[in-house]
Amino acid sequence: MTDERQSGLGAPLATVQVKTPISIVVPTYRERENLPELVARLTALKRTAAPDMEVLIMDDDSQDGSAEWVQNEAPPWVRLVTRTSQRGLGPAVVDGLELAQHPVVVVMDADLSHPPEKIPHLLLALEAGQDFALGSRYVRGGSTDDDWGIFRWLNSRIATALAWPLTQARDPMSGFFALRKADLRGAHNLNPIGYKIGLELIVKCGLDNVGEVPIHFADRRLGQSKLTLAEQLKYLVHLKRLYMFKYAGLTRFVQFGLIGASGVVVNLAVLTACLAVGFPDTPALAAGIVVSVITNFLLNRRFTFSYARGGDMGKQFVGFALASAIGGAIQLAVSAGVLRSQPTMPPQVAALFGVAAGFLFNFAANRFVVFKERHPARRRR
Ligand code: GDD
Ligand code: MN
Repeated sequence: MTDERQSGLGAPLATVQVKTPISIVVPTYRERENLPELVARLTALKRTAAPDMEVLIMDDDSQDGSAEWVQNEAPPWVRLVTRTSQRGLGPAVVDGLELAQHPVVVVMDADLSHPPEKIPHLLLALEAGQDFALGSRYVRGGSTDDDWGIFRWLNSRIATALAWPLTQARDPMSGFFALRKADLRGAHNLNPIGYKIGLELIVKCGLDNVGEVPIHFADRRLGQSKLTLAEQLKYLVHLKRLYMFKYAGLTRFVQFGLIGASGVVVNLAVLTACLAVGFPDTPALAAGIVVSVITNFLLNRRFTFSYARGGDMGKQFVGFALASAIGGAIQLAVSAGVLRSQPTMPPQVAALFGVAAGFLFNFAANRFVVFKERHPARRRR
């Protein structure tokens, strides 16, 4: 039996031997206080279980004595890489993955939240045929320190749930993982913003077979976390990009629908405002329609079809308005046609058929004619 709470040291190390040479990538920013224990624990691991190991400390020029410590105190297989441009956790990891010399790469934090003693177990998962091995808090046997407040817990769970359409792994937010260097060649322009570099790799390298190894995630004892609210908001932008990457068509379709729904709200709001200031009914209705067509156009041009932002806006608007008009006519024709062929059907149901047909036409006309893609993005392999 192993007790995860003994910082992983309780795991039976000697039983798991790592034969593959491994590169360990550790992004750091101001982690001087944590480096000695980290390197000591990695040294123990190298001695007992993983002889062929290099460590890359990817430091964003911390200026806190980290560089001096590595130069003077660390063993030669620990390399410090000082980064001065394109700073940030994601880019530091991507650089480390490129510099790694060995066929298997492990990424982990410097603050000892991730137990180095679990690295052999990550390797076992790869040897068992998985494409990606995650150190996971949320599988059986995994845990976090007890003093996580309800908000931190909720935050982590919601973030994980939002990633579910991308991967069914239980803890894709984890920054502790291993993968084969060869799989990185299949990656389409890695562009991690924020903290979720593991998720980025799973999606962009198309690694569906994710194995999870339970870990105890210990809270950092020394130094400070750099996970700010701004970083967390970036996660939403990152998610949208990954959804786009994996489900470009569907994401666009849903977005077009959501913007259409927002148009209904705009329409009703403008109508209400116009009536309140004394407009007669017909001009007020017209104003609602005109304003909502304009907001729909602007939102779709900016978000749904953002690749066409450079195009001629006037022409695009005319196309968009025309598509809306034709879509409206199709809506009417389809509802009327359905009602005529099924006289017993409630008109409301027939109207919904019309809405669906008009919507499909509208989407297709905008996607493939009005906002035509000149250089279609390369698809996943
Ligand atoms: N090079 C570099 N540049 N390293 C950075 C930067 C940066 O701008 N920001 C943070 N790091 C390093 C830290 O020094 C640490 O080694 C690691 O990245 C994680 O940073 P923390 O500040 O400790 O993040 P955290 O504990 O809040 O987040 C961790 O847990 C999350 C899950 O709860 C990370 O592992 C996340 O990836 C993970 O999602
Ligand atoms: Mn941390």
